[in-house]
Amino acid sequence: MNSVMTTVRSAADIVVAGDAAALAEAAAQRLIDRVSHDGRAAVCLTGGSSPQGLYRLLAEQPWRGKVPWDRVHWFIGDDRFVPQNHPLSNMGAARRVFLDRVGAPPANIHPIATEAQSPEDAAHRYKDELKTFYGAPRLDPARPLFDLVLMGLGSDGHTASLFPHSPALSETQHWALGIAKAGMEPFVPRVTLTFPALAATREMLFLVDNADKRAILRRVLAGEDLPAHHAYSHGALTWLIVRAAAPENEAGELK
Ligand code: 6PG
Repeated sequence: MNSVMTTVRSAADIVVAGDAAALAEAAAQRLIDRVSHDGRAAVCLTGGSSPQGLYRLLAEQPWRGKVPWDRVHWFIGDDRFVPQNHPLSNMGAARRVFLDRVGAPPANIHPIATEAQSPEDAAHRYKDELKTFYGAPRLDPARPLFDLVLMGLGSDGHTASLFPHSPALSETQHWALGIAKAGMEPFVPRVTLTFPALAATREMLFLVDNADKRAILRRVLAGEDLPAHHAYSHGALTWLIVRAAAPENEAGELK
């Protein structure tokens, strides 16, 4: 297996994996570590291509046998406002690739209600569902909502459905929002969790598995005013990136 190396930069850990396969394995191990505690666990999934290798692993042994399926609840950080059986649905993709294949208990799968009247209505309903799951109307940083939040990085620096220049970036009260206009393709309305809701986690894990993301990743890690740079976590914040996407100073430290 390829090497995986961790360095620490400000509040974030940067973990460099040799290739996309090593990245998926490292992500699977982190997920197992985060959900392997007594009682209920909660994972917030993401869309896009970068988590797909992880999702495929979770459907196969040995990883499939390591997940306590009865105890883990699966949420989604953002979704496109399309039915779950639509090819653009983020939760639909996660279901097809692993959740339905392994027979995860339906009551443990928490999709955004894209059959609602509008993205705002769906956001409202998801907020209610999250608050019921959490058991309180306000987030306490000492008691995270999620054990693990997965995040992707768009080529414009967006994450979840939090696009550059969107007013949603500065939301501090609401847990979820309807996004009428996506900042990049596919141009369908979205529903997204906000930074404060995503931050309510023991670990936020960004996955970057493609060399095409090298330039935007360098800008985000350099602190440019881009959405992904503004994501934060009350627990750990980790960037798990493939070597081909790593900025020079990170890639250069690989043994
Ligand atoms: C979405 C995603 C989004 C994604 C990035 C990266 O619904 O579009 O959740 O935030 O993570 O666009 O996507 P890729 O991994 O496909 O580049």
